[in-house]
Amino acid sequence: MVIAVDGPAASGKGTLARRLAAYYGLSYLDTGSLYRATGLAVEAAGARPDDQPAALNAAQTLDPSFYSEDQLRSPGAGEAASQVAAIPAVRSALLEFQRNFAATPPGAVLDGRDIGTVVCPDADAKLFVTAQPETRAQRRHLEHAGRGDELSYENVLADIRRRDERDSGRAVAPLKPAEDAILLDTTELGIEAAFQAALDLVESVLNERGQSA
Ligand code: DC
Repeated sequence: MVIAVDGPAASGKGTLARRLAAYYGLSYLDTGSLYRATGLAVEAAGARPDDQPAALNAAQTLDPSFYSEDQLRSPGAGEAASQVAAIPAVRSALLEFQRNFAATPPGAVLDGRDIGTVVCPDADAKLFVTAQPETRAQRRHLEHAGRGDELSYENVLADIRRRDERDSGRAVAPLKPAEDAILLDTTELGIEAAFQAALDLVESVLNERGQSA
């Protein structure tokens, strides 16, 4: 079984995807971390994230486990990720790894921007998780503060708006819900309520398909 969870930055998709994976006994892949690691690798090589040959080389030689969670979640890594992610050759280079991951038993929950549309168009269930930009910025700001990253709320909000625009506006695999995705707005929901809502939605799709857990 494969579950696709897409949505913009800090919508809550990562937390929901991880919990859905644990609930159904599936593997979990945070595909944003592949783009984040690629962005960090380009910068470590002394290039800019929009340098296409350097970014492609980084994606082709990527070791996703090379960077720590703190490095991957830093604000700079998110910005670099959004830039390398707009390069079509980088997306192609990372596609096979993601598809193989999804196809490996027992199946997986993948979260990202294009899982339901490009990576796993045949996923058993697809969620598109959203929340108001201000709410997402508050969550991300708290997350950064918890790791000791001193960024103002205004800067985090501006960063989120810039990334939304780039991720939604790019020519290849832009952030948009798959036609058969179910929308979940987490603006007014805490983690538990959001997880319950996500689970109910996934269960209703699986029930329709006759494959509930
Ligand atoms: O989900 P995240 O914030 O970790 O993602 C970081 C960036 O990577 C995001 O701005 C866009 C890009 N990304 C993508 O283009 N496609 C994906 N499947 C996942 C992430």
